[in-house]
This record gives sequence, C-alpha cells and structure tokens, in this order.
Amino acid sequence: MRPTGRSVLIPRVARTRGAPDNPDLPQPDPAVYTTHAAEPPRKPWTVPMLAEAKHAGRKLVMLTAYDATFARCMDDAGVDLVLVGDSLGMVVQGQASTLPVTVDDIAYHTACVARGLSQALLVSDLPFQADATLERALEASTRCLQAGAAMVKLEGAGHKLDVIRFLVEREIPVCAHLGLTPQSVLRLGGYKVQGRDERAAARLHEDALAVAAAGASLLVLECVPSKVAADITATCGIPTIGIGAGPRCDGQVLVLHDLLGINTGHRRPKFVKDFLADGGSVADAFRAFADAVREGRFPDAAHSYD
Ligand code: KIV
Repeated sequence: MRPTGRSVLIPRVARTRGAPDNPDLPQPDPAVYTTHAAEPPRKPWTVPMLAEAKHAGRKLVMLTAYDATFARCMDDAGVDLVLVGDSLGMVVQGQASTLPVTVDDIAYHTACVARGLSQALLVSDLPFQADATLERALEASTRCLQAGAAMVKLEGAGHKLDVIRFLVEREIPVCAHLGLTPQSVLRLGGYKVQGRDERAAARLHEDALAVAAAGASLLVLECVPSKVAADITATCGIPTIGIGAGPRCDGQVLVLHDLLGINTGHRRPKFVKDFLADGGSVADAFRAFADAVREGRFPDAAHSYD
C-alpha cells in the first residue's frame, strides 16, 4: 500500500523507467520531474465503514480495475471500492465469457491493483467454480486476501450460502452477487434482466435476505428492475451496489472499459454510460462518475430497467 498524503511526481518530458515516488529508489532529479502538492490524507475504507455509509445514506462508488495505474487513478479520484472482477476475462483477455478466468488470473490482477490503492477497499471476484466447494473457496479467498483484497465476491445463493457462512466464520469478508450472475450464462441462456415477474422477484428478494443472514457484508445486484432492487435495498440490511439495478441501490459499480466507452467487442448493455464522452481526462471521467452516483444523477431511467 502507498503511504497517504504523498507527493505526486510528474515527468516534465516523459516518464523514465522505475517508480519515481518509491523511497527505496534513488530520488528523482527535480530538473526532470515536477511535484504536485501533497494530497490531504483521506481515511482508508474498511469493511465496517460500508455499513456505516449505508446507515448515513452515503452512496458507495465502485469501479472495476485490473492494473495498478488505473487503480491509482481511481483511488486519487475518490472511488470508494475497486473490484478485480472476473469481467477481466472479457475486457482484458478477450474471452467470450467470464468462465475461463482462473484463480491465478484473479490473484495476479489483485496484486497489481493493490499496489495502486491507498484508500479504496479492494474486492476480488472468486472466478467460476473457485467457490464450488468450501475448501476451494477458502483456498481461493485466502490467495485473494494475501494478494491485497479486503473482501471476496461470489455469485449466487443456494449452496453458496454455506460458502458465505464458511468464509465469514474464517474472517473472510464476502460480497454476494445476485440478479444476472454472469457465471450462470449457460444455464440462463444469455445475459438477461432477472427478477422481472412476480415469482422471480420474490425469489431474488428471498436470496438477498439469505445472503445477508449468511454474513455477506455487501451485495451486488446486476440487471434487476429498479423497483425490485429498491425493495431489496430497503429490507436486506446490508449495502447494495447496483449495476443495471436502478438508482435506489446504496451504491453503483461499472466496468472500467464501459465507463471509458471502450469497445471491447461485446454488446453494450443499456445500463452502461460513457463518462469520457463529454471530454476531459480519464481522471475527470472517474470523478464525473463518482459525483453522478453521489448526487443521485446516475443511473437515470435511460440506464435502468422497469
Ligand atoms: O466481474 C465484474 O466486473 C463484476 C461487476 C460487473 C459487478 O462482477
């Protein structure tokens, strides 16, 4: 982890090899680098602070990242949570789905992202079948936490409730993920909105209460009608993070490439918004997303499902 309140060194011409703000390396020549004023330190996020944010009505801002540099930029922009998602299979590796992603992949990218963060809470996805048994889930989660994550995310309820309980009892914070769970794409027959009819909505609601009761500290709701997500958010007791789940979740997440409007070769879902389109820098796009979430301007109806 980087120290807080650090100075940021910017090369006057081009960045040279090595990390210029690493105190273990020879210090940079001031003729080569300019120095921004030190940023005031912010309090790093911890797991208990997530529940406090929900109770205070403070919206949570989450983005996915896969490398240290984007992670650092998000951290500097005030993003609260950074997710090393198994979306990396589709947006980094060029795979057709998240299913080929391995624990090695997630552990590698988690270690990279962790080096870029000083304040944001780092969450790592358990990839396909890494949570199929209690033992596998414990092993994969331990690797994620040892690589720098503070929490692991896993998809589904059902037999995953035992996994959540098992991990939480072993001091591993868990983020659940319900609604459209991309690791279920073969069973679902595609990426579709979930919980649309009354029965499916009731089932989703039961699952949300169950993952919270099992000990999850956070719940991602993906591709769920706004009203269903709002009802779950009001009753489940843990913070919800929406992605295509309407404005009344406790926070929002987007995949990095979607927020930057990058064509990844996959279809763009309705809930995606390009925050770089209005101009400015990548850092401005992260700040624009964070502001829009905190002020309740994103997602609007055009980026949500009824
Ligand atoms: O893998 C991922 O990036 C995710 C987010 C879309 C929530 O699960």
